[in-house]
Amino acid sequence: MYNSKYQEMKKQTVTKTRSLTIETEKKLNAQILLEGQSSAYYLSMASWCDKEGYSTSAEFLYRHSEEERQHMLKIFGYINNAGGHALQPVIDNIPHQFKSLHEIFEQILEHEISVTYSINDIVDHCFSIRDFATFHFLQWFVTEQREEETLARRALELFDLIGEDGVGLWTIDQELGKLENFVQKPGPGGVTDGVV
Ligand code: FEO
Repeated sequence: MYNSKYQEMKKQTVTKTRSLTIETEKKLNAQILLEGQSSAYYLSMASWCDKEGYSTSAEFLYRHSEEERQHMLKIFGYINNAGGHALQPVIDNIPHQFKSLHEIFEQILEHEISVTYSINDIVDHCFSIRDFATFHFLQWFVTEQREEETLARRALELFDLIGEDGVGLWTIDQELGKLENFVQKPGPGGVTDGVV
């Protein structure tokens, strides 16, 4: 019984021509779209910050936009190497106007949480069909998402700690540039908070 079920799953997951099910390929292509949207979203935010004079935040977001593009390309490579077809995503409806620097970091946190849910869904799917290779590939994204959630939460804390009055916004902008060092700093006993 177990053996026939296992053989059936194996047949679905890995064949002579591909190591991905069609369903997994679709889910990974949907993730490509999401990573591409993240890249475009952060690029738009970076440009707005640049225009408004928040130069440190702009640099931070330009860098993050590029990182999201690299996340997208990682999935391109994985799908194509496994015998599938990674699809160039169509990206539109990216906002160009933002109310404030604070709103930008609130939107980043909300967006990253939605990306985490999406990654978790694919991880769950891969485990359920015993596609352990893709499950393993996605662990990098699981860790990355924790880092990005932490970054966005720390950014929002700066607004509460420093306040936006007077030189507050200028100070927040400067401090935002140091956040990446913060999340990579070893915690008690030299343990990082799961961030690499
Ligand atoms: Fe690559 Fe921030 O999701």
